[in-house]
Amino acid sequence: MPAAAQEWHSVPSPDGRLTVEFAVDRGEAVYRASFRGKPIIDRSLMGFRFKDAAPLEGGFTLKEAERSTRDTTWEQPWGEQRLIRERSNDLAVTLAAADGRQLRIEFRVFDDGFGFRYILPGTPDERFVISDELTQFAFAQNYRAWWIPAYREKFSEYEYSRSALSAVSVVQTPFTLEGEGVALAIHEAALVDYASMNLRMIADNTRTLQADLSPWSNGDRVRGRSGLKTPWRAVLVADDAAQLANSTLILNLNEPNRLGDVSWARPMKYIGIFWGMHIGRFTWEPGPDHGATTARAKEYIDFAAANGIEGVLIEGWNKGWDAPQWWLNGHSRFSQTETADDFDIDAVAAYAKELGVAIVGHHETGAQVRDYLAQLDPALAFYNRYGVSAIKLGYVGTRLDMTEWPDGQYAVESFQQVVEAAARRRIAIFPHEPVKDTGLRRTWPNLMSREGARGQEYNGGSPDTGNAPDHVAILPFTRMLSGPLDYTPGVFGFDYRAKRPFNRVPSTLAQQLALFVVLYSPVQMAVDLPENYAGNPAFAFIRAVPTDWERSVTLQGAIGDYVVTARKDRHSDDWFVGALTNEKARNLALPLTFLAPGRRYEAIIYADGDGANWKSAPERVAISRRIVTSTTVMGLTLAPGGGQAIQFRAIK
Ligand code: NOJ
Ligand code: CA
Repeated sequence: MPAAAQEWHSVPSPDGRLTVEFAVDRGEAVYRASFRGKPIIDRSLMGFRFKDAAPLEGGFTLKEAERSTRDTTWEQPWGEQRLIRERSNDLAVTLAAADGRQLRIEFRVFDDGFGFRYILPGTPDERFVISDELTQFAFAQNYRAWWIPAYREKFSEYEYSRSALSAVSVVQTPFTLEGEGVALAIHEAALVDYASMNLRMIADNTRTLQADLSPWSNGDRVRGRSGLKTPWRAVLVADDAAQLANSTLILNLNEPNRLGDVSWARPMKYIGIFWGMHIGRFTWEPGPDHGATTARAKEYIDFAAANGIEGVLIEGWNKGWDAPQWWLNGHSRFSQTETADDFDIDAVAAYAKELGVAIVGHHETGAQVRDYLAQLDPALAFYNRYGVSAIKLGYVGTRLDMTEWPDGQYAVESFQQVVEAAARRRIAIFPHEPVKDTGLRRTWPNLMSREGARGQEYNGGSPDTGNAPDHVAILPFTRMLSGPLDYTPGVFGFDYRAKRPFNRVPSTLAQQLALFVVLYSPVQMAVDLPENYAGNPAFAFIRAVPTDWERSVTLQGAIGDYVVTARKDRHSDDWFVGALTNEKARNLALPLTFLAPGRRYEAIIYADGDGANWKSAPERVAISRRIVTSTTVMGLTLAPGGGQAIQFRAIK
């Protein structure tokens, strides 16, 4: 029997289009949601089971319901958007279980979605083990879903699948859904002291997913203590996929900056001794083709200095890379303070300093977390001495310390230790193989970017032949909903198949440029070898494109088909656009309504050239210029696997 209407505590979004309702119904804590008058999530259960305590899953009475509103605007120290409005209607409920324990649930309802979190009871300092979080998402329709699987050996490094919701088994978040007049995504915000939430279809059902917390190796889900605040369970809601990509919900559900002035965590472009290893030209380990030699590092520094690229990443600079199959066996011990014999860090750091180029450090851990934490502070101090203020981290391996899932509580807590230790040393980090992004950059802005997706590296040397051309047309609506991505765009040299016969970069050069705008990262790597950039006029776009933005708007798009993104530079009046398509050629009309009215701009256009095609002629690019205003409608012609990148230079 449905509960009577008056038992539902209804919270509308500030614009009134989204409604979230909470009720204690037959003793169960339940919520539901509707958008533009249509249900999107039907009555869904909330609660917990514990290892050694009675569950909190029924027999509740509602003790208290408090309402409040928030409306502030906050500023990101760096970001895809400088100012973010945080405006929501809130409801906090206190429930009492039959045995008197009190569970608190807080809801925040924004225009672009809603979040809720639990605050768990217990006597002060009481410890408990959560064996299951019972949060459900009972979707109102059998939406079309976009997802990557959970609990697989490559974690987040999968291409996305598209299916009916009913075909989903167990997936990671962000989990994106599309229906008639609505696009949704389930994710979480502020993941600390807890396990990542995956989603699993409940038994005998085709539309209801339940939280599936990544467990410890002994089956515990979360080891907590009284007063624990769970991460926010977040539901992003929009009219369509392009609007979904503009959501600020995840950041808004995180706590404000705890670090204060983070001017040392600087957005930048960087190049690196990196792609050469992925395409089989150099090695990380010592030997005749060792990438990270003193001489090569200096060459890259020269190139960066000559081209206005702020940083140079150096991978394979230290000891530990020669353990056989270091990524599999868990016996690697990377030393983060001893250099390879042919790499003179004193000389390289001095040279970089002289030329005004930042060195981007690299800590590969081989997923040996205990070992890494034991050397963490000396390792950070070591880089501090050389003026390194940004480090890329790596956690390659199937389990942390060979036992724990890389998204369970162990991963979350140990990673948080790294974030905070790095912050104390004024070092920015961007991990690969990370815990997924849940917007913690708002609170710890030294956590600048991360991989956590199938990046460009798969196109270089992966034995499974790399990514399909629609991958980059899916990422903006899935992975990117969680935060910045260190994808490593910018391939100009498509002919590396002597060493990698089965791999190719499935895009045109113009699309590689578009990725700098489409896939936001405050640290953006121009991935290719300097020699492939030298003399190519298209490199001017990489030189010009900023990594820190005043505003960002996803203008158009369809998941898996195409996307058009516009961003305004934070430090000038210039705008940049990136447009890309999947394997299909496409013509798009682009009204320039985002430009300042009445202002003239010079558009510098990097388009797919005649006959360009990701398979047969990826390098053909046509560069042209024209004068435009906000009333101009540009026609974009995109080749198969193609794209277009445009700089709009404001005319003084
Ligand atoms: C995998 C990372 O994603 C990649 O960026 C890095 O080059 C290698 N591991 C080695 O650390
Ligand atoms: Ca990776």
